[in-house]
Amino acid sequence: MQDDMVLHNIGKLYTFPGEGPVPGTMMDSPTIIEGAAITIADGKISMVGKEQDIWDNADIKDDAVCIDCKGKCVVPGFVDPHTHLVFAGTREFELPLKLKGATYLDILNAGGGILRTVNDTKAASLEELIADLDRRLDRMLRYGTTTVEIKSGYGLDRTTEIKLLRAVKDSKHPIEKVPTFLGPHAIPPEFRHDPNAFIDLMIEVAWEVSKEGLAEYADIFCETGVFDEKQSRRFLSAARDAGLKIKIHSDEIKNLGGTVVGAELGASSADHLLVSEDRDLDAMKEAGTVPVLLPGTLLTIFEQRVPRAREMMDRDLPVAIATDINPNCMVENLQFIMALACYRLRMTPHEILAASTVNAAHAIGRTGRKGRIREGYDADLLVLKDPSFEHVLYNFGVNHVEKVILGGRLLLDNIGW
Ligand code: NIG
Ligand code: FE
Repeated sequence: MQDDMVLHNIGKLYTFPGEGPVPGTMMDSPTIIEGAAITIADGKISMVGKEQDIWDNADIKDDAVCIDCKGKCVVPGFVDPHTHLVFAGTREFELPLKLKGATYLDILNAGGGILRTVNDTKAASLEELIADLDRRLDRMLRYGTTTVEIKSGYGLDRTTEIKLLRAVKDSKHPIEKVPTFLGPHAIPPEFRHDPNAFIDLMIEVAWEVSKEGLAEYADIFCETGVFDEKQSRRFLSAARDAGLKIKIHSDEIKNLGGTVVGAELGASSADHLLVSEDRDLDAMKEAGTVPVLLPGTLLTIFEQRVPRAREMMDRDLPVAIATDINPNCMVENLQFIMALACYRLRMTPHEILAASTVNAAHAIGRTGRKGRIREGYDADLLVLKDPSFEHVLYNFGVNHVEKVILGGRLLLDNIGW
């Protein structure tokens, strides 16, 4: 097949060697090709290498789109592996409460937080949810996110959870979406007296969701006042039996043993991990579970501590980072999260690139297709405005993406700062 797009005059091209996730101690060692070019055929990367080799060897169509990258750098499209993107309403009014000292769990227990968003979301139509979702996806794409995981979890009943997953499925937005069923995200008031009955119901919904092909993953919020270790184990093993892959929100505020449960059941990722202990890190290593760190959430819950990113990488865990965008942490911009990973988690720019491309792709089952610039991978590429990736961390708070190529199509060009 002949190539239909060429990117040339690339100052630095960044990718990672190997096939699978990049282990922690290798995350600081990307492959960097200077003076590179890339060819694309039918939405996939067909050749990557030094520019002269490409001109000499590629079979390029006469009318191929030819993009001069003008010495700037090219990186894989960013992958955001943990979001709660589909919901209605906003929660800006919680900010003054939090500033006065109300904690995340205080607000939730008073019927606010997730439960407030559940009420707004129940009242929204499928069309409204899709319109809101697409608006957020548009913004994410401008900041370079080309693949995104999206959780349900603002329904807490069969009909609304299915409506949320349907919204993800029906959205025509070109960003690749990986749907996750997060039915057990909070205990709805009607089940306060019997959370186990709610788990039973969510297990039934997991079977339905799996049968209808509405989600790839199931997830649960394992936390004090939400779901405990036993409930997490019961739900995730049933979801796995139903044919879904699994993830867990664990060790965000209290360590209830959720990370170990997730790892034992073969979870693709365990997410948050602020208060993880050695046994949790060991369990993830043993199981091949990706630790997904969410430094934006730490800001919005006014948490001063940080997760043990360096120790995770020292143990060769393939760390990933994500926005966790949700009504409590309204951030579409993964580049801002990268800055937090640098300045708060002390991850290096190259480690951060691995965490938001190849390892993030592994956390959501897209290994071998997303997160690398490599022959046969999807042609999801970003031309940045800078000669090297370090600039994204150095000059933070602005948009470094100049062009977005998704599935071999130039979707956005000349994006402003
Ligand atoms: O990952 N921690 C649980 N769920 C979300 C927050 C959802 C919300 O507050 O609406 C999270 O941070
Ligand atoms: Fe989350």
